[in-house]
Amino acid sequence: MNVMIVGSGGREYSIGLALKRDSSVDKIYFAPGNGASKDLGTNVLITDFAKLADFVVDNSIDLTIVGPETPLSEGIVDLFRDRGLVIFGPTKSAARLEGSKVYMKNFLAKYEIPTAKYIETNSLEEATEFIATLDDERVVVKADGLCAGKGVIIATSHQEATDATQHMLDGSSFGEAGKRVVVEQFLDGYELSMFAICDGDDFILLPAAQDHKRLLDGDEGPNTGGMGAYAPTPLVDDVIYEKVKERVIRPTLSGMKSEGAPFEGVLFIGLMIVDGEPITLEFNVRFGDPECEILMPLLKSPASELFYKAATNNISELNVEFSNQYGVGVVMASRDYPYKSSPSCEIIVDEIVHDDLLQNSHISYAGVSEEDGVLFASGGRVLVCVGLGDSIQEARDRAYMLVAQVHFAGKQLRSDIAYQALN
Ligand code: AMP
Ligand code: GLY
Repeated sequence: MNVMIVGSGGREYSIGLALKRDSSVDKIYFAPGNGASKDLGTNVLITDFAKLADFVVDNSIDLTIVGPETPLSEGIVDLFRDRGLVIFGPTKSAARLEGSKVYMKNFLAKYEIPTAKYIETNSLEEATEFIATLDDERVVVKADGLCAGKGVIIATSHQEATDATQHMLDGSSFGEAGKRVVVEQFLDGYELSMFAICDGDDFILLPAAQDHKRLLDGDEGPNTGGMGAYAPTPLVDDVIYEKVKERVIRPTLSGMKSEGAPFEGVLFIGLMIVDGEPITLEFNVRFGDPECEILMPLLKSPASELFYKAATNNISELNVEFSNQYGVGVVMASRDYPYKSSPSCEIIVDEIVHDDLLQNSHISYAGVSEEDGVLFASGGRVLVCVGLGDSIQEARDRAYMLVAQVHFAGKQLRSDIAYQALN
């Protein structure tokens, strides 16, 4: 089977690694890929969806897997399906679960999926009245549209929440994306990421992961796309998995069907566990990054079959197996991340000479470019060092041993990935 992966990050690279291990995969293409994905397959520099579909036909590509949300929200799946091509991901209308927070919150309310109490509005007066009804001084204000992960303000007082709402509504914080807002109750608990691979009717739930969104140790500093992750997290037991399946995923799949937008692709459920109850914070319609980088290596079954069956509505035929190991991923980011882009600089990876490390760790490359065989750190999140092990501690030790072999000027990383599991 020939497979194309749309995207350029560490997430897409890790899907490429999983396909590389899969004996039924012949050729792998990345559109556009990065400076390291060329070693796993062929980078295709076509951005226009129709031309990309032509490329898929011309090169007998059997399956396309879409990594990031932007092409999904722009309708790449609809266009490929219209051309009779097999593509894994949600249609444009199903991708609204991520593209609009207002749509998502109203969907959760309509199908009685537990979520934080909220109001969605474009009126400052309505928002202020709602804020006054909340007991907690902490309030969460969210811009409706996609803001590259920055559209959420956790205000520490009602006044701050009102001010944040005003700045969103008048367009000064996030432009058009903030002209409608969701204001919601602050939830105090621990946060998890769960991923369900869906085919519209059925799903396969992957091991629960925990991301580390803040830049600095101890969850300090600004929000980022994610500085590290681990899975499976011991913070989830079978009771929570069952609750997520019954109270979140099943009603979401049947709800999306009734809305005329069956959900196919990765349903990424951002959860807050409050007193043992999973409360849905948000949906995304794609894999998390860096969560994907640690989940893909835990997949024992062939990746191509999983994605192909999901894309062709046959997931119920599958019995997917996961390894009983743990994965820990540590992101290495460039000097000025997440504030601005950093000067490009060479990456040096020492030769790994210990068998143990060679067999149980690897790098998932993200923001890298290549010139004359030399790899450069050129993006914000540059790469993820992944360690696998029989315990979280062992996986984490290996991830940090690998980190110690990777060098580039100004590298930033957290030293406490998986701390919540080890406390
Ligand atoms: P979102 O984009 O909705 O996931 O929000 C980004 C981050 O803000 C989440 O990952 C949480 O850490 C935090 N957050 C969002 N909503 C809430 C809430 N209602 N209570 C507490 N924290 C929240
Ligand atoms: N790591 C969180 C995300 O991909 O949105």
